[in-house]
Amino acid sequence: MKAVVYNKKGLPDKLIYCDVEKPRPNDNEVLIKIHAVSANAADYRSMRMGIIPKKRIFGADIAGRVESVGKNIRQFKPGDEVIGDLSDCGFGGFAEYAVAPEKALIPKPTKVLFEIAAALPIAGITALQALRDKGNIQKGQKVLIVGSGGGVGTFAVQLAKYFGAEVAAVCSSKNVAQTSSLGADYVIDYTKEDFTKNKRCYDLIIAINGNHPLFAYKRILNPNGIYVMVGGALLQIFRSILFGWLMSFGSKKMCSLAAKSNQKDLEFIVKLVEDDKIKPIIDRRYSLDKVADCMKYLGEGHARGKVVINVE
Ligand SMILES: NC(=O)c1ccc[n+]([C@@H]2O[C@H](COP(=O)([O-])OP(=O)(O)OC[C@H]3O[C@@H](n4cnc5c(N)ncnc54)[C@H](OP(=O)(O)O)[C@@H]3O)[C@@H](O)[C@H]2O)c1
Repeated sequence: MKAVVYNKKGLPDKLIYCDVEKPRPNDNEVLIKIHAVSANAADYRSMRMGIIPKKRIFGADIAGRVESVGKNIRQFKPGDEVIGDLSDCGFGGFAEYAVAPEKALIPKPTKVLFEIAAALPIAGITALQALRDKGNIQKGQKVLIVGSGGGVGTFAVQLAKYFGAEVAAVCSSKNVAQTSSLGADYVIDYTKEDFTKNKRCYDLIIAINGNHPLFAYKRILNPNGIYVMVGGALLQIFRSILFGWLMSFGSKKMCSLAAKSNQKDLEFIVKLVEDDKIKPIIDRRYSLDKVADCMKYLGEGHARGKVVINVE
């Protein structure tokens, strides 16, 4: 089969489109013919840090059709359409075929196209777990989404609105109209205004991108407010992980998210998409032989929504 293999530590030009052996499922695995796969910051960041999957093939968010199943598989049969998150089982999605345990997969509704399905897992689950699990989002709350332009941010805005919050969002000029169209009540263009310095305060802040001191975030939290660090500059991530708990004295809570893939949350996201309550924003589409270009684009840090690779 064709796959994109990472063969050396370094930049995206080390990704090679080539022939490799087609994987064979063991008794507890499903073999999937991949139709579409989306790229995530996780792929790019792991590659830059030299954290390489065992099979040297990145790509976690897949959508495809079951080709064959191991003898212990109960939930799926050949021909079923599935959506998967392979981030906890060795990646392998930038390829024509991949194997996965059934817990990494859910059925794909026929109505949801393969490329739409592939855009959902990591970004959708991350936004959901940040808002609902870490952020305990409540109807009517004032929520700030910092970094609303990318994969996670575009889901976060829509999910926060779905949960009934009043949503403010931060992005650059080119994403202001898109963020408004996703339902944000108030959009702050970070190239023109510093959201940490105006008078607005929030019940929940989801920090997805950018780089601001924890004290600046804490200052704009309402009493009993929660700050959830999802991502952004490495400095922001380290600060939140190391000092967030220290700064959670008093009524304000500062925490970090490490999203965990699971079938229930993926089903929740997929159902919202099936019911037209939320939608992924697809910024660019690539073919499998152009994954290196796709990763270079993602690495620039300004993707507008999701970037999808159509394999079929
Ligand atoms: N904690 C977890 O479990 C978890 C899970 C998944 C992802 N993450 C992390 O979450 C972050 C976002 O992931 P992603 O997949 O959404 O990435 P992405 O799609 O590559 O995000 C790109 C977006 O970031 C925005 N951005 C860049 N600089 C910004 C700034 N200074 N202020 C506000 N927005 C800015 C860009 O918008 P503009 O062009 O408008 O600047 C662009 O739309 C990454 O750091 C990733 O590692 C964490």
